[in-house]
Amino acid sequence: MSQSQFVSKYTTDALQTAAQTLLEGNLVAFPTETVYGLGADALNKQAVARIYEAKGRPSDHPLIVHIHSTQFMGQWVDDVPEYAIALARDFWPGPMTLIFKRSSLAQDFITGGQDTVGIRVPNHVVALALLEAFHNLGGRGVAAPSANRFGHVSPTTAKAVSDELSEYLNSEDQIMDGGPSAVGVESTIIDCTSANPRILRPGAITEEMIKQSTGLVELGTQTPGAPRVSGSLEKHYAPAAKVYLDQTPIAGQGFIAASRRVTPKGVTRLAAPKNADEFARDLYTALRKADELGLQEVVVEQPQGEGIAVAIRDRLLKAAAGR
Ligand code: TXA
Ligand code: MG
Repeated sequence: MSQSQFVSKYTTDALQTAAQTLLEGNLVAFPTETVYGLGADALNKQAVARIYEAKGRPSDHPLIVHIHSTQFMGQWVDDVPEYAIALARDFWPGPMTLIFKRSSLAQDFITGGQDTVGIRVPNHVVALALLEAFHNLGGRGVAAPSANRFGHVSPTTAKAVSDELSEYLNSEDQIMDGGPSAVGVESTIIDCTSANPRILRPGAITEEMIKQSTGLVELGTQTPGAPRVSGSLEKHYAPAAKVYLDQTPIAGQGFIAASRRVTPKGVTRLAAPKNADEFARDLYTALRKADELGLQEVVVEQPQGEGIAVAIRDRLLKAAAGR
């Protein structure tokens, strides 16, 4: 059993304590607008090793470094193309991760041995306050993957983090509660190491928004040998229940679909979002609920169209893979 505590009132003292906890080499799970992250001091090899242990994640998968202000990005990266400056200016703090050539600060235990590093400034008051407090204590950045076991659904509440990871945390670690994540799917990952930006993982910052911000007409396309994104493995973002896409649900199954769809008799409705934003926000909670209710199978009717629906379909394809 874990003694790790929930910190729900963020006085300056509480934030200070959490930042200090990180600096001492412990783990702090914290809320962001996308999903909850499991944080460690990005310069501390032992602390980062504990992230991999807690997640059960292969150690060659790189981690995103979180900072509270774009101004500190330069410490971590070399070679920032002009389009990336536009993206950072327009979308940070926000649901976007940029991949750059790394500086010597980003060591192999962060980058999985690659010569690139991912940076993000999250848009959540608790995350930003924690990262700033960490910075004020002399910290340089917080490495954080989503706070779930490897391959599982990302957590969008503190309770989901606790359900996933509390048995792998110790009494010095902390889970900070910042309420449900507003976006609900992981950040857009954009490779900024080539002439044109390339989307490695779709998210709330869409292709259209990237083109608009950078003035570029075409984005780069994914090529073989591109940097590894673990979410691009076949089965990922998956609950224990089997996920089926775009079928008519039958009695005994769970069902996630837009609110206009009726729930057939005997089917357990897990979410009825009114639009794509709501779909993204509710999706992971709904998939978790399927497991809590002991459902074996869930049918999801995918949202159509562009925008964040692209990210939702990306995650659902992976959740359904390897069923
Ligand atoms: O919204 C998010 O991005 C959340 C919150 C906590 O910030 N974090 C997150 O981290 O989703 P994670 O580790 O679960 O997913 C990050 C993905 C991984 O698939 C990883 O392989 C990829 O980003 N990644 C990280 N650094 C990379 C790099 N240098 N090159 C290519 N991919 C990278
Ligand atoms: Mg993840």
